[in-house]
Amino acid sequence: MIMFEKVNKITQEVQAFDIQNKEALEQFRIAYTGRKGQIADLFDDIKNISPEQRKAYGHEVNRLKELALAKFAQMQDQLGASSEGQRKLNIDFTLPPIPETLGTRHPLTVVREEIIRIFERIGFNLSEGPEIEDDWHNFTALNFPENHPARDMQDTFFVEGDMLLRTHTSSVQVRVMENQKPPIRTLSPGRVFRNEAISARAHCVFHQVEGLFIDENVSFADLKQTLYYFVQEMFGPETKIRFRPSFFPFTEPSAEIDISCLICKGAGCNICKHSGWVEIGGSGMVDPEVLKNCGIDPEKYSGFAFGMGIERITMLKYQIKDLRLFTENDIRFLRQFESL
Ligand code: PHE
Repeated sequence: MIMFEKVNKITQEVQAFDIQNKEALEQFRIAYTGRKGQIADLFDDIKNISPEQRKAYGHEVNRLKELALAKFAQMQDQLGASSEGQRKLNIDFTLPPIPETLGTRHPLTVVREEIIRIFERIGFNLSEGPEIEDDWHNFTALNFPENHPARDMQDTFFVEGDMLLRTHTSSVQVRVMENQKPPIRTLSPGRVFRNEAISARAHCVFHQVEGLFIDENVSFADLKQTLYYFVQEMFGPETKIRFRPSFFPFTEPSAEIDISCLICKGAGCNICKHSGWVEIGGSGMVDPEVLKNCGIDPEKYSGFAFGMGIERITMLKYQIKDLRLFTENDIRFLRQFESL
């Protein structure tokens, strides 16, 4: 009977044993289920049991053993799954790392920043203005007569009343001239809007960078030298520049800026339509009327201005043939600028 009580006592102990961590689990194994544990001892005692009780005793001890083993297995599972230590051990430190994929700067951003850096080196600062403009800053101050067809030339998106989406960043230069005294040397990059059908060569939203230089005795020679410097820095020392007479309401004289074709080096190809030259923007001496409109004395000061399309320059520099690629966000296109 004493032996049966011992089995009962150990059964209760096994049931009550609280296994919360690996150490407790190991203690449980040593105390009960292990080779030298108490359950093994109970089996050893079988020889001391009277033959008529032996079967019942064996039955009880077997039940206890199964109970203890089941409890052990269950706790082992639980601890295994929840244990930080166990999980850490599963990390294979010899595996190669998963590479981080880096984002890329948009080609238009790359080129805009490069243009800014080039002009910064010769003393130009940066100016910004609103994309929704009034008629004065976009047209009237710049010498576009009211109801003049030149306003149509710009394919304006009108917003409401005399508010519109700026068609060029010359509007920013008007604001600078109104608010600052010469000498002025400023660069105005920004987004502009024109009501044009989207194609490989035109878009209704694009980017410009315009420059303005106003001081005493500024001449057309300064304009030419400044743009010559820019073109060489931007496209390389082989690049030639030429000025073609043109018209803008706000400059007089005015000139279109061409550079020698980067693809065929002037020999003639289909990018330059076999002329050897490609246009990158407009320029001219600021019309005295415009200076007057902005509160600057045209007797004392003169200046030049120029404007270029950032898309155009980017397309020439990286030989991109379709303007729409800039806005389609095709990752295969953007990834090509990863290293820039
Ligand atoms: N603002 C003109 C345009 O958008 C470009 C330009 C700027 C021309 C400055 C001459 C001088 O077309």
